[in-house]
Amino acid sequence: MKKLIVIDACMRDGESRTRRILNPLLEKLAERYEIETIRLDGQDWQAVGRRVLAERAAGHVPEETVAMARRIAAADRLVIAAPFWDMSFPAVLKVFIENMSLFNITFRDNGTSFEGLCRCERLLYVTTRGMNLRTGDPLETVTPYLRALSLLWGLGEVITVAAENLDYSSPSEIDARIDAAVAEGLAICREF
Ligand SMILES: Cc1cc2nc3c(=O)[nH]c(=O)nc-3n(C[C@H](O)[C@H](O)[C@H](O)COP(=O)(O)O)c2cc1C
Repeated sequence: MKKLIVIDACMRDGESRTRRILNPLLEKLAERYEIETIRLDGQDWQAVGRRVLAERAAGHVPEETVAMARRIAAADRLVIAAPFWDMSFPAVLKVFIENMSLFNITFRDNGTSFEGLCRCERLLYVTTRGMNLRTGDPLETVTPYLRALSLLWGLGEVITVAAENLDYSSPSEIDARIDAAVAEGLAICREF
Protein backbone atom coordinates (compact mmCIF):
# COMPACT_ATOMS: atom_id res chain seq x y z
CA MET A 1 0.00 0.00 0.00
CA LYS A 2 1.21 3.51 -0.75
CA LYS A 3 2.07 5.78 2.14
CA LEU A 4 0.38 9.08 3.00
CA ILE A 5 1.55 11.42 5.75
CA VAL A 6 -0.81 13.88 7.38
CA ILE A 7 0.72 16.93 9.03
CA ASP A 8 -1.98 18.11 11.40
CA ALA A 9 -1.43 21.66 12.67
CA CYS A 10 -4.96 22.12 14.05
CA MET A 11 -4.60 23.40 17.60
CA ARG A 12 -8.22 23.34 18.81
CA ASP A 13 -8.68 19.76 19.94
CA GLY A 14 -12.21 18.45 19.60
CA GLU A 15 -13.70 21.61 18.15
CA SER A 16 -11.42 22.19 15.17
CA ARG A 17 -13.46 23.05 12.09
CA THR A 18 -10.48 22.25 9.90
CA ARG A 19 -10.49 18.69 11.28
CA ARG A 20 -14.22 18.43 10.54
CA ILE A 21 -13.19 18.67 6.88
CA LEU A 22 -10.03 16.61 7.28
CA ASN A 23 -11.48 13.55 9.03
CA PRO A 24 -13.93 12.33 6.36
CA LEU A 25 -11.29 12.87 3.70
CA LEU A 26 -8.85 10.70 5.65
CA GLU A 27 -11.49 7.96 5.95
CA LYS A 28 -11.74 7.97 2.16
CA LEU A 29 -7.97 8.07 1.66
CA ALA A 30 -7.48 5.19 4.12
CA GLU A 31 -9.07 2.91 1.51
CA ARG A 32 -6.00 3.39 -0.68
CA TYR A 33 -3.20 4.63 1.57
CA GLU A 34 -1.39 3.62 4.71
CA ILE A 35 -1.75 6.80 6.75
CA GLU A 36 0.64 8.21 9.33
CA THR A 37 -0.51 11.32 11.18
CA ILE A 38 1.94 13.78 12.67
CA ARG A 39 0.05 15.94 15.15
CA LEU A 40 1.92 19.12 15.93
CA ASP A 41 1.32 20.82 19.26
CA GLY A 42 3.91 23.55 19.58
CA GLN A 43 6.01 21.75 22.18
CA ASP A 44 7.52 19.14 19.94
CA TRP A 45 9.94 20.89 17.57
CA GLN A 46 12.63 23.41 18.37
CA ALA A 47 12.65 26.55 16.19
CA VAL A 48 15.59 26.59 13.81
CA GLY A 49 17.47 29.40 15.51
CA ARG A 50 21.14 30.07 16.14
CA ARG A 51 21.72 26.95 18.23
CA VAL A 52 20.11 24.55 15.76
CA LEU A 53 21.90 26.19 12.82
CA ALA A 54 25.24 25.97 14.61
CA GLU A 55 24.62 22.28 15.34
CA ARG A 56 23.76 21.70 11.67
CA ALA A 57 26.92 23.53 10.60
CA ALA A 58 28.88 21.20 12.88
CA GLY A 59 27.26 18.22 11.13
CA HIS A 60 24.82 17.33 13.88
CA VAL A 61 21.11 16.87 13.26
CA PRO A 62 19.16 14.87 15.88
CA GLU A 63 18.45 11.30 14.77
CA GLU A 64 14.68 11.68 15.26
CA THR A 65 14.67 14.77 13.02
CA VAL A 66 16.55 12.94 10.27
CA ALA A 67 14.25 9.92 10.59
CA MET A 68 11.14 12.08 10.33
CA ALA A 69 12.49 13.99 7.32
CA ARG A 70 13.26 10.68 5.61
CA ARG A 71 9.68 9.53 6.20
CA ILE A 72 8.37 12.79 4.73
CA ALA A 73 10.68 12.41 1.72
CA ALA A 74 9.54 8.81 1.18
CA ALA A 75 5.77 9.48 1.43
CA ASP A 76 3.73 9.08 -1.75
CA ARG A 77 1.28 11.81 -0.74
CA LEU A 78 1.15 14.57 1.86
CA VAL A 79 -1.88 16.16 3.51
CA ILE A 80 -1.45 19.37 5.49
CA ALA A 81 -4.32 20.46 7.73
CA ALA A 82 -3.94 23.90 9.24
CA PRO A 83 -6.33 26.73 10.15
CA PHE A 84 -5.68 30.17 8.65
CA TRP A 85 -3.91 32.15 11.38
CA ASP A 86 -2.67 35.72 11.26
CA MET A 87 -3.06 35.74 7.48
CA SER A 88 -0.98 32.58 7.18
CA PHE A 89 -0.73 29.27 9.04
CA PRO A 90 0.28 28.46 12.63
CA ALA A 91 3.97 29.03 13.30
CA VAL A 92 4.25 25.49 14.68
CA LEU A 93 3.83 24.28 11.10
CA LYS A 94 6.59 26.58 9.82
CA VAL A 95 8.88 25.38 12.60
CA PHE A 96 8.15 21.79 11.59
CA ILE A 97 8.79 22.54 7.90
CA GLU A 98 12.12 24.22 8.73
CA ASN A 99 13.12 21.16 10.75
CA MET A 100 12.25 18.88 7.84
CA SER A 101 14.02 20.99 5.23
CA LEU A 102 17.26 19.05 5.31
CA PHE A 103 19.92 19.05 2.65
CA ASN A 104 20.19 15.73 0.83
CA ILE A 105 16.95 14.47 2.38
CA THR A 106 14.06 16.69 1.28
CA PHE A 107 16.09 18.76 -1.23
CA ARG A 108 19.59 19.21 -2.57
CA ASP A 109 21.40 21.56 -4.91
CA ASN A 110 23.78 20.98 -7.74
CA GLY A 111 25.79 24.17 -7.33
CA THR A 112 23.64 26.24 -9.65
CA SER A 113 20.11 25.34 -8.66
CA PHE A 114 18.10 23.27 -6.21
CA GLU A 115 16.25 20.03 -6.66
CA GLY A 116 13.44 18.47 -4.62
CA LEU A 117 14.05 14.95 -3.36
CA CYS A 118 10.59 13.99 -2.14
CA ARG A 119 8.66 11.12 -3.68
CA CYS A 120 5.29 12.87 -3.11
CA GLU A 121 3.28 13.57 -6.26
CA ARG A 122 0.39 15.54 -4.73
CA LEU A 123 -0.10 17.64 -1.64
CA LEU A 124 -3.58 18.28 -0.26
CA TYR A 125 -3.94 21.38 1.91
CA VAL A 126 -7.06 21.46 4.09
CA THR A 127 -7.94 24.69 5.84
CA THR A 128 -10.64 26.90 7.29
CA ARG A 129 -10.53 30.68 7.42
CA GLY A 130 -12.34 33.10 9.69
CA MET A 131 -12.47 35.88 7.12
CA ASN A 132 -14.14 35.83 3.75
CA LEU A 133 -10.93 35.06 1.84
CA ARG A 134 -11.25 32.55 -0.94
CA THR A 135 -8.39 30.45 -2.26
CA GLY A 136 -6.67 32.57 -4.90
CA ASP A 137 -7.35 35.86 -3.09
CA PRO A 138 -4.06 37.82 -2.98
CA LEU A 139 -4.38 37.90 0.83
CA GLU A 140 -4.56 34.10 0.95
CA THR A 141 -0.85 33.54 1.33
CA VAL A 142 -0.69 29.86 2.17
CA THR A 143 -1.49 28.14 -1.12
CA PRO A 144 1.26 30.14 -2.92
CA TYR A 145 3.69 29.34 -0.11
CA LEU A 146 2.93 25.62 -0.31
CA ARG A 147 3.44 25.76 -4.09
CA ALA A 148 6.85 27.32 -3.48
CA LEU A 149 7.66 24.66 -0.88
CA SER A 150 6.55 22.05 -3.39
CA LEU A 151 9.13 23.39 -5.83
CA LEU A 152 11.87 23.23 -3.19
CA TRP A 153 11.07 19.74 -1.93
CA GLY A 154 9.53 18.25 -5.07
CA LEU A 155 6.01 17.58 -3.80
CA GLY A 156 4.07 17.86 -7.05
CA GLU A 157 0.66 19.43 -7.45
CA VAL A 158 -0.78 21.44 -4.54
CA ILE A 159 -4.56 21.18 -4.11
CA THR A 160 -6.40 23.34 -1.58
CA VAL A 161 -9.72 22.47 0.06
CA ALA A 162 -11.07 25.33 2.17
CA ALA A 163 -14.10 26.74 3.93
CA GLU A 164 -14.01 30.47 4.54
CA ASN A 165 -15.88 33.25 6.36
CA LEU A 166 -16.49 30.90 9.27
CA ASP A 167 -16.04 33.54 11.96
CA TYR A 168 -18.80 35.65 10.40
CA SER A 169 -21.35 32.94 9.62
CA SER A 170 -24.28 31.48 11.53
CA PRO A 171 -23.99 27.89 12.82
CA SER A 172 -26.11 26.61 9.94
CA GLU A 173 -24.03 28.55 7.41
CA ILE A 174 -20.86 27.12 8.97
CA ASP A 175 -22.26 23.59 8.67
CA ALA A 176 -23.17 24.23 5.02
CA ARG A 177 -19.71 25.60 4.17
CA ILE A 178 -18.01 22.69 5.87
CA ASP A 179 -20.29 20.17 4.14
CA ALA A 180 -19.49 21.79 0.77
CA ALA A 181 -15.75 21.59 1.47
CA VAL A 182 -16.08 17.93 2.48
CA ALA A 183 -17.97 17.14 -0.73
CA GLU A 184 -15.33 18.93 -2.81
CA GLY A 185 -12.56 17.19 -0.88
CA LEU A 186 -14.10 13.73 -1.28
CA ALA A 187 -14.31 14.23 -5.05
CA ILE A 188 -10.62 15.20 -5.05
CA CYS A 189 -9.68 12.23 -2.86
CA ARG A 190 -11.15 9.78 -5.38
CA GLU A 191 -8.42 10.85 -7.82
CA PHE A 192 -5.76 11.78 -5.28
C1 LIG B 1 -4.72 32.60 16.72
C2 LIG B 1 -5.73 32.77 15.61
C3 LIG B 1 -5.46 33.63 14.56
C4 LIG B 1 -6.37 33.77 13.51
N1 LIG B 1 -6.08 34.61 12.47
C5 LIG B 1 -6.94 34.70 11.43
C6 LIG B 1 -6.62 35.52 10.30
O1 LIG B 1 -5.62 36.21 10.26
N2 LIG B 1 -7.49 35.52 9.25
C7 LIG B 1 -8.63 34.76 9.24
O2 LIG B 1 -9.34 34.77 8.24
N3 LIG B 1 -8.96 34.00 10.31
C8 LIG B 1 -8.14 33.96 11.40
N4 LIG B 1 -8.46 33.17 12.47
C9 LIG B 1 -9.74 32.43 12.46
C10 LIG B 1 -9.56 30.99 12.02
O3 LIG B 1 -8.94 30.89 10.76
C11 LIG B 1 -10.90 30.28 11.93
O4 LIG B 1 -11.67 30.46 13.09
C12 LIG B 1 -10.72 28.80 11.64
O5 LIG B 1 -11.94 28.21 11.29
C13 LIG B 1 -10.14 28.07 12.85
O6 LIG B 1 -9.91 26.74 12.51
P1 LIG B 1 -10.04 25.55 13.58
O7 LIG B 1 -11.49 25.49 14.04
O8 LIG B 1 -9.63 24.33 12.84
O9 LIG B 1 -9.14 25.89 14.73
C14 LIG B 1 -7.58 33.04 13.54
C15 LIG B 1 -7.85 32.19 14.61
C16 LIG B 1 -6.96 32.07 15.65
C17 LIG B 1 -7.27 31.13 16.82
